[in-house]
Amino acid sequence: MSALESEAMEAEFDTVAGWTEEAVRALGPEYAVPAGCRGSGSEGALRWLADRLRLDAGTRLLDAGAGVGGPAGWLAAERDLRPVCAEPMAAAVRASRRLFGLPSVVALGQQLPFADGGFEAAWCLGVLCTTSDKAGALGELRRVLADGGRLGLLVFVADAPLPPPLPEGNEFPGEGEVRDLLTAAGFRLDDAADADLSDSPPTWTERAEAVQAEVARRHGDEPAFQQAEEQSGRVGRLLADGSLRPWLAVATAV
Ligand SMILES: C[S@@+](CC[C@H](N)C(=O)[O-])C[C@H]1O[C@@H](n2cnc3c(N)ncnc32)[C@H](O)[C@@H]1O
Repeated sequence: MSALESEAMEAEFDTVAGWTEEAVRALGPEYAVPAGCRGSGSEGALRWLADRLRLDAGTRLLDAGAGVGGPAGWLAAERDLRPVCAEPMAAAVRASRRLFGLPSVVALGQQLPFADGGFEAAWCLGVLCTTSDKAGALGELRRVLADGGRLGLLVFVADAPLPPPLPEGNEFPGEGEVRDLLTAAGFRLDDAADADLSDSPPTWTERAEAVQAEVARRHGDEPAFQQAEEQSGRVGRLLADGSLRPWLAVATAV
């Protein structure tokens, strides 16, 4: 595997990632975290996970499928950490380096370029639903975590078959499937909850929207923009009507 599982996802996670960096540069650094949280989208969800991952200053943490680095940038600022980011889309990796100064590498979650047991914690946010090989991604996360290491997940789960139109390339698992996959990969589930992705402070939402508007102003007539909008619109509709549920989990590597 060298790329994502659909062209539409590459538009959303590569091309638009680069445009997001460009827009943040135009608007100012305070826009970077809200605009850079492209799956997690909520400060409350990040805080829920960070509180349960037992993070100290200096904890070695991996963000797998880090996107443009918003969640890792938030963690760096909030918890005095220097997360390592891995992400398959090169434009997103460049953005996380340049916007947040984070160490960041181009890599699929199923092929992480790190030693066994090198991390004490990891999180993987909004990623499992973008790949069909969920077992491979969780297996790699277990490999790079030390025994007793903590894993945080945000997964968009589907409780029943989803009504079309569906976002291209996504495969949304059921909650039970994720629980089983975690156990099979060598994790013990410690805590889980449904996330409220609309609980960010107003300034967070305003800044994310301002960056989105700036990207639209610069690139709104380009096919990749329209394709990415269609993708994220489809996910948004499934979340809004309750067909998809943002599910948070913290597990320990056993
Ligand atoms: C919804 S975004 C979430 C980005 C980031 N985690 C966040 O919360 O802002 C999903 C990310 O998963 C990445 N991705 C897709 N397939 C992947 C895979 N097989 N391994 C790792 N990351 C993958 C995409 O490139 C994209 O950046």
